[in-house]
Amino acid sequence: MDDLIERLRLLEKESKLLDLNDVERKATFSNFEKIASEFLNELEDGNTYSNAKSYASIFEIKEESENLVDISGTIYSEVMQKGINAASGGHLGYIPGGGLYTSAIGDYLAAVSNAFSGMYYASPGAVEMEYACLNWLKELFDFPKNAIGNLTSGGSIANLIGLTAARDFHKVLDQPVGKSVVYMSKHTHHCVHKALRIIGLANVTVREIELDENNRIKPDHLKELIEKDIEINLSPFLVIASAGTTDTGAMDPLDEVADVAKHYKLWYHIDAAYGGFFKLVETKKALFEGIGKADSLVIDPHKGLFLPYGIGAVLVKNREAVLKSHHYLANYMQDATDNEFPLNPADVSPELTKHFRALRMWLPMKIHGTLPFVAALEEKLLLTEYFRREIVKLGFSIGPEPDLSVTYFWYPKNDSQNEFNQNLLKAFHESGEVFLSSTKLEEKFVIRMAILSFRTHRSTIDKAIEMIKSGLRLRSAHS
Ligand SMILES: Cc1ncc(COP(=O)(O)O)c(C=O)c1O
Repeated sequence: MDDLIERLRLLEKESKLLDLNDVERKATFSNFEKIASEFLNELEDGNTYSNAKSYASIFEIKEESENLVDISGTIYSEVMQKGINAASGGHLGYIPGGGLYTSAIGDYLAAVSNAFSGMYYASPGAVEMEYACLNWLKELFDFPKNAIGNLTSGGSIANLIGLTAARDFHKVLDQPVGKSVVYMSKHTHHCVHKALRIIGLANVTVREIELDENNRIKPDHLKELIEKDIEINLSPFLVIASAGTTDTGAMDPLDEVADVAKHYKLWYHIDAAYGGFFKLVETKKALFEGIGKADSLVIDPHKGLFLPYGIGAVLVKNREAVLKSHHYLANYMQDATDNEFPLNPADVSPELTKHFRALRMWLPMKIHGTLPFVAALEEKLLLTEYFRREIVKLGFSIGPEPDLSVTYFWYPKNDSQNEFNQNLLKAFHESGEVFLSSTKLEEKFVIRMAILSFRTHRSTIDKAIEMIKSGLRLRSAHS
């Protein structure tokens, strides 16, 4: 046999190890499904936080294959048991994530099929599924049918796309960047500042709009700032409001801010990454009045739709503004474009090859329908109310009535109040039964509770209250 053929025979034999047969697939799946089930079955009673460290050496990749049971053991003990358990209902810090099992099945099928969802030509089904998800979002947020959108990896990239469109629509790069002005609050998510830097607007002029006693931006102050900037010959171009800030969950007055932005012909961007899906709840609808007036909108299904991390969404009304930065015709892709095709997701985002992420959103929506999502969101709002009722009974002070499901509290002290509350949070983290985080409002250290996991129920809040009670006893004994 000639050498080439012999070498190919050997290589084929070796490389076929990558392509499992039916029996091997079932055995492999069952091995890993076992730890998935164990992990899920323990969620309710297990702790939410462990500060144990992990080291890269544990995950070292070797030339030889390793035993499946050992591999799943590593994942279980080194990943699933350390840090914040973000699949647990006890994750009540930052903005909790989700982890719907039906979405995980979607990811599994997306990876198995490996559908190329960046171009219509490559997978019309995957692309139309993405557009069906985006159409549902357009309808929910009062956006016109012809708005364009994209399913991104998360809120940060979604914000980046929206802000790039604002920059291009107002031709900000055609003049010295410092002349252009952006208006936002100090509670605007930091990914917006990052995005501005990434898109060449690090030196843009940023004006901070004052907040009212509920941490919402004051439209009158916004107006005042714009007027002053026009007077000194600057170029206001962008107003950013939040539908649910990360710090306190505040809903900016979207409709009033829209009126100001429209009056001065500025681009209106709303970051609804955290709060957006609360629009599904009847009692909160009024807070979302005016959301459809935004030029660009960010929503995060891996927050309010309880999907596993890795999916955000952006909607933009002005098509040309988005295409200016993202549309590209490469010679080698000449057969993949046709005027008959719908817009390619690759023309709306920095990504070409992308995870087929529509399936992780579409599948749970199809399997469950929307009603359980609405119920879970309303439950989170009422749990927030319940928590606030219970926490004051322990002598804590609480922030103003929250717009959504983030609330904050602190133990009042005549002196060293910040230090006492910091130590209290440390005690909660040492316990790890549930996970809480903190923020600073002016100079005050406050503890935050953010309720957004679909697995958080009344029993979780009762567990949190018990943990807080024990932490308070412990810290009071020390001080
Ligand atoms: C209001 C808000 N905007 C944007 C983001 C960033 O989104 P992501 O973490 O999905 O990139 C977050 C994250 O918590 C957020 O709360």
